[in-house]
Amino acid sequence: EKVILNGKITLKTDIKVDFEDRGYQFGDGIYEVIRVYNGQLFTSKEHLNRLMASAKSISLAIPFTAGEIEGHLQQLIQENQLENGMIYMQFTRGVSPRNHAFPAPAIDSVYVAYTKPILHSSENATAGVKTILTEDIRWLRCDIKSLNLLGNILAKQKAADAGCFEALQHRDGIVTEGSSSNVSIVINGKVKTHPATNLILNGISRQVMLGLCKDNGIPFSEQTYTTEELLQADEVFLSSTTAEILPVIEIDGKAVGNGTPGPFTRKLQKLFQDEVA
Ligand code: PDD
Repeated sequence: EKVILNGKITLKTDIKVDFEDRGYQFGDGIYEVIRVYNGQLFTSKEHLNRLMASAKSISLAIPFTAGEIEGHLQQLIQENQLENGMIYMQFTRGVSPRNHAFPAPAIDSVYVAYTKPILHSSENATAGVKTILTEDIRWLRCDIKSLNLLGNILAKQKAADAGCFEALQHRDGIVTEGSSSNVSIVINGKVKTHPATNLILNGISRQVMLGLCKDNGIPFSEQTYTTEELLQADEVFLSSTTAEILPVIEIDGKAVGNGTPGPFTRKLQKLFQDEVA
C-alpha cells in the first residue's frame, strides 16, 4: 500500500511520525477528506480550495499548488488501484522543538495522504441513524478544517456511549452541526441548514446538497434554527463526505417525524447518488 509523504509516493511502512511534529504535539495543522467514486476524485476542486483556505487561516505555507496536489492524489489512486473510497490528507506546520509560537524562520510543513476503500450502500443510509443533542463546546473557528478535533471527538464519543451514530451540537439553543457532519432539517417541505459562518465547517456535501435543492426546485434556506425546531422537524438529515446524505430517525430517544426516513431526505439521497454515479 502506497501513501504520499511531502508530495512523493512512498510505502506506508516508510512513514514515521516525529515526536516533535507540531501536528502531534499541538494539533497544529489542517486536513481534508475527499471521496473517490469509480476511480475519480469527487469535488476535488472544492476540497482543495477549502484546504488552501484552512492553511491560509492558520498561516501555514503549503509548498504546492492545488493543481499539483490534485496530481499527487490522482497518482496515489492509480498506485493503490482505488475504485471507491476516500483519500485522507493532512498538512502540519512541521517538526521543531516544542514552542507555542511558530518556528522562526519557518520550516517545511509535513504532508501525508493515504487512501481507504469504502464498500458501497451502507445500512445507515437506508434505515437512518440515531443521534443525541449536545452542547457545542468547540472554539469559534469551526470553519477551519483543523486537526484540533477534541471538541468533535468528545461529542462523537458521547453519541457512541449512547449507542448513537452522531452528536448534533447546539450553541445556546441554536443548532450548529454534527461532530463530523453538517445537519439540516425539513419543515413543511423546506430545507433549512445553518449558514456558512465561523460556527460550522462549510461542508462540500452540504454545498452539493444545496445545489441539488436549487436545481430540483426544492425550497431551501441557509438560516439558523433552534433545538425546538430540530425536535419538531418533519425530517432531519446529515451530510458529509463519508456519510453522503444520511437520514436522522431519532434524537435523544425521540422519533423524528414518524421515525423513518422522510420523502425529502430520500429524494436528496437519490439525487446525490445520481450525481456521483
Ligand atoms: N468530516 N462538519 C464537520 C465538523 C466535519 O468534520 C465534516 C466532515 C463536515 C462535512 O464536510 P464535508 O461535506 O466537506 O465532508 C461538517 C470529515 C469527513 C471527517 O472528519 O472525516
